[in-house]
Amino acid sequence: MSEMKIPKHVAIILDGNGRWAKRRGLPRKLGHKAGCEALEQIVEDAARLGIKVLSIYAFSTENWKRTQDEVSALMQLFRYYIPRLRKRCFEGDIKVETIGDMSLFDEDLIRGIDDLKRDTKDFKRMTFVLGLNYGSRDEIRRAAVKLAEKVKAGELEPEAITEEMISQSLDTAVLEYPDPDLLIRTSGEQRLSNFMLWQNAYAEMYFPELLWPDFKKADLVKAVEVYNSRDRRYGGRNEADNG
Ligand code: FPP
Repeated sequence: MSEMKIPKHVAIILDGNGRWAKRRGLPRKLGHKAGCEALEQIVEDAARLGIKVLSIYAFSTENWKRTQDEVSALMQLFRYYIPRLRKRCFEGDIKVETIGDMSLFDEDLIRGIDDLKRDTKDFKRMTFVLGLNYGSRDEIRRAAVKLAEKVKAGELEPEAITEEMISQSLDTAVLEYPDPDLLIRTSGEQRLSNFMLWQNAYAEMYFPELLWPDFKKADLVKAVEVYNSRDRRYGGRNEADNG
């Protein structure tokens, strides 16, 4: 364990809550509830492991298309879990950030999350990033608008736009470590589903078969072990590979 290289930024697509519930003959919302419980524990485990940023896809721009019943169950779960997360964050020295456009959420929820961000802003051990009404294409579109406005105002030449400027215009610009080193998606699905498309350019990807509510600390450790077994080259060449 002590020899392991811990990825600084881990992103997780929590998938399989619905199937977890279905296998038990339960309504989908109970799958999401079990998913929230698993998440609460993993946040603490990730901080203990030494991960510096944990980003999760809590609610996507596409999730509004689910039934009204499921969307409101998810909103109720956010309401219930925000105070619980608050406790975890205070105990664990964990700062909360969000990515995505929260403006479509109910006012009380926005207020609760904004308060959580404000009250944890000086915590240092780990940053917990919640993707809320987040979609990567929407985020990139909003970044493009910001840069286009600078061009329009005569503050920027189009040709002067750099990759760094684009990164700095994304929602993740607020993070100290912007790009995930490791992306995990549970339930065996192997897709990014519009999650951090720009930021995951060089992430190692790991797709365990487990459904999200069953994902435990040992599975996170396993993911870190898999990450350690990978040879990250960022498109370059491994020095040991002279063949
Ligand atoms: C996918 O399962 C999961 C979601 C739609 C996200 C649910 C969100 C959480 C558990 C995190 C809550 C966050 C906070 C801050 C409390 P699915 O319904 O797509 O599963 P399925 O593919 O098996 O149907």
